[in-house]
Amino acid sequence: MADQGLADRAVDPGMMCRKTVSDIIAEGAHHTLPKTLGPWSITALGIGCIIGAGIFVLTGTAAAQYAGPAIMLSFVVGGIACAFVGLCYAELAALLPVSGSTYTYTYATLGELVAWIIGWDLVLEYAMGAATVGVGWSGYAVSLLANFGIHVPPAYAAAPGTVVRLVDGSTVTGIVNLPAAFIILFLTAMLIGGTKESARLNNIMVAVKLAVVLAFILIGAGFVTSSNWTPFIPANTGEFGHFGWSGILRGASVVFFAFIGFDAVSTAAQETANPQKDMPIGILGSLFICTALYVLVSAVLTGLVSYQQLNVADPIARAVDVIGWAWFAVLIKVGALAGLTTVILVLLYGQSRIFFTMANDGLLPGLFRRVHPRLGTPSASLGLVGVVVAAISALVPIHILGEMVSIGTLFAFILVCCAVIYLRRSDAEIARPFRTPAVPVVPLGGVLCCLALMIALPWETWLRLIVWLAIGLVIYAAYGSRHSVLRRGPRAQRPLR
Ligand code: ALA
Repeated sequence: MADQGLADRAVDPGMMCRKTVSDIIAEGAHHTLPKTLGPWSITALGIGCIIGAGIFVLTGTAAAQYAGPAIMLSFVVGGIACAFVGLCYAELAALLPVSGSTYTYTYATLGELVAWIIGWDLVLEYAMGAATVGVGWSGYAVSLLANFGIHVPPAYAAAPGTVVRLVDGSTVTGIVNLPAAFIILFLTAMLIGGTKESARLNNIMVAVKLAVVLAFILIGAGFVTSSNWTPFIPANTGEFGHFGWSGILRGASVVFFAFIGFDAVSTAAQETANPQKDMPIGILGSLFICTALYVLVSAVLTGLVSYQQLNVADPIARAVDVIGWAWFAVLIKVGALAGLTTVILVLLYGQSRIFFTMANDGLLPGLFRRVHPRLGTPSASLGLVGVVVAAISALVPIHILGEMVSIGTLFAFILVCCAVIYLRRSDAEIARPFRTPAVPVVPLGGVLCCLALMIALPWETWLRLIVWLAIGLVIYAAYGSRHSVLRRGPRAQRPLR
């Protein structure tokens, strides 16, 4: 049936053509990636991608500058917004278990052009996300090495032009962030080596990260000074977003980065043994566990030290200093490094799988769908993505990267919520293994929450998003529209090799 749907077409149906749900399901059944992942690996994949720079780096800044101890409420707000979106992802990932994620869902709803735009937009979430977390990894690695007397020259651990303030008060201008590039290239090599091996490394690192986060919560709780939680919501300074209730909202838009990743689970649908059951478990399970941990970590963090002291690059390690155990601060850094490593791993993995699906549709060259015969991974695609991401991570400052990741992800989330509403009408009769409750209230709730968080981002970030999408349109006109399998038939697709 799928072959019929994709047969050579006499007439180009145009760039708004959409795939049918049955075409997508049938294509997924003919894929070439091995099914090696189960519910635990899937949930670990989610947690692996969620807990990272958001909680280990951004929480302190958000508490110190915007929300105070009420950063706990910011996490609750962020968790509710992501729960709306997560419920929508769960329905679509179980219904359409292919590795294209939002890109595929959009192909079935708003058509090829918008699907291309969203696939291109997802590069911001996955590739740029990996680059961002790579920079966070570099910071913790340099700090941990210093604990052991190894000092990385600061100019070689920062993007060009970044001003680094040293302990003695002097400043150094960054040249290149070598540790960030190193970790990206190392993990790329791991992923090329095999999905199963990478999932095993991921499971071990997730266990280390969870153990450290739990140790922080359990041990830290015993040292909390409850007066640090007063006032719980510091009075607004008169400026929107600086403490008070608006500060809680601004805090939520900053810590939104901490939730990114639960959706990456959906890119593993094609390599999952039982996606109809495992996708909702993985997406919603990892989101729920991480939200609970975030609220608890932020409670202990702001209970250990006054929120005013948390505007540092390693707030959790700083809070642990209050306990007075030097080894515990080192342990926290090790856990943070493990945590950041798994985030990068899953984001790089997700990026290669989205490109894989786009290349199968003819919108990207064959290189992106070539699977290594022995390793069973899209090795050429991974290699290319890894080299580009490593270069970005080495050369671009973290704040520019981080905001682009947030805006790109929020845009994709909005389309996922819209896709659920659309498909409930266009393909009402198809059996859904998981159903988002209270449609359209839940998807609309997701759209509104994401829009609110997008509006909180600076206009420069909007401009960068628009430029990025415009570049994508040029590439679609030059390549995708000419080789699209859906529009031009299978022969338009460049052959492998
Ligand atoms: N949620 C991921 C992090 O916080 C992207 O690093």
